[in-house]
Amino acid sequence: MIELRELGPGDAGALLRIYSAESTRYLGRAPMDADEARHRVRDVAAAAAQSPRALYVLGLAVDGDLLGVVKLHRDRPVAAVSYILRADAWGRGYATEGVRRIVALAFGHLGLPQVRARHRADNPASGRVLLKAGFVPTGERGGFMTYSIRPPRAVGRGVSRC
Ligand SMILES: CC(C)(COP(=O)(O)OP(=O)(O)OC[C@H]1O[C@@H](n2cnc3c(N)ncnc32)[C@H](O)[C@@H]1OP(=O)(O)O)[C@@H](O)C(=O)NCCC(=O)NCCS
Repeated sequence: MIELRELGPGDAGALLRIYSAESTRYLGRAPMDADEARHRVRDVAAAAAQSPRALYVLGLAVDGDLLGVVKLHRDRPVAAVSYILRADAWGRGYATEGVRRIVALAFGHLGLPQVRARHRADNPASGRVLLKAGFVPTGERGGFMTYSIRPPRAVGRGVSRC
């Protein structure tokens, strides 16, 4: 069972392992170094303290082990999710569960009307994660496959006219 939780200063070492060369290959960024990891946990804490909160950067932990990061970006017209898992934790359904949880936060607590996501066309595992989490493909743009999800329609609300 995964847990999504806020990141803290003690998570810099775990971030280093998550943002390895293998995991960052499809992200268009270099692997993280120790200096960046230290700054990242500080920046994430500052973003978490903002109100309203524009960015959720949550750690994905299993049995207390921080294995990944799931993000919800609200600093744009339509919110977007992104995610990264430590390479030795791939293939166990954790990313899919993490995406489901953060989408539930977006539609539940935050009441957002839509969430988007995208992945590089050469990263099909990420596409599987989105499809399994309920996202719908919306096309391809600039080498990225794009996706969207909306809240499930409320069933049984209101007065029945039958
Ligand atoms: C993409 C990523 C998040 C997936 O994490 P994960 O925990 O392994 O994901 P899950 O186990 O929930 O699901 C992975 C799915 O992809 C499938 N998959 C794996 N490699 C694949 C490939 N080369 N082609 C097609 N499907 C693939 C798996 O079989 C699984 O689908 P299934 O359950 O139907 O069998 C992880 O690989 C990762 O962190 N990659 C680097 C960062 C990244 O790419 N982030 C996304 C940026 S858009």
